[in-house]
Amino acid sequence: MATIMKATITMAMSIKHQTRKGLLFLTASLGMLSLSVLSCTASEATPDQKSPEPSSRRTGMYEASPLAEAMRSMAMDMESLRAKADDGSLRIEEVDAMILAHADMKTAQATKPADIKASYQGYAEAYLIQLEELKERLRTNVDRAERLEAFNAALTTCVACHQEHCPGPISRIEKIKVQP
Ligand code: HEC
Repeated sequence: MATIMKATITMAMSIKHQTRKGLLFLTASLGMLSLSVLSCTASEATPDQKSPEPSSRRTGMYEASPLAEAMRSMAMDMESLRAKADDGSLRIEEVDAMILAHADMKTAQATKPADIKASYQGYAEAYLIQLEELKERLRTNVDRAERLEAFNAALTTCVACHQEHCPGPISRIEKIKVQP
């Protein structure tokens, strides 16, 4: 009887130990997961009210994926060219530089590559084609409405891809559009 009790207790303890280990593992993975999807789920703070960097960045536990880094600079590029698109001082060379740099999105590794859908490359192409269209319109000296139409259309392709892959930044992207 005593031995059975003892065996049961040992078993219970070892199960408890396993569970605790499992729970620890689960908590750790959930933590990582919530960090990695944070930027895709939570709607982002506007640039002027940015929240502080997640503390884990300082501890080195979490690093942005190459695709997330590429996306951050894409967003910053579009934001910094917004006023120029608006007032007509946007230059062809600036759009060209974006076409070159933003093509990185076609190959950069995502946080969760398994979540990248078959439609991804099509959206990436659509976006780059819109930038080509914007360039063409600048070259042919179109009026303000047509210029902004092309600028906003490029942002619409960002949003289209984001609706399927990463809804968090959509409101930030919409804010870059210029009212014609
Ligand atoms: C072809 C699909 C696609 C297009 C087009 C696209 N994105 Fe993204 N974007 C993604 C995916 C997927 C992620 C998540 C990346 C990751 O976590 O690795 C992302 C992430 C982001 C992020 C969050 C980065 C971070 O800090 O984690 C921002 C901001 C962003 N995109 C802005 C833009 C802007 C602005 C455009 C257009 C100028 C754009 N995206 C076009 C697919 C796209």
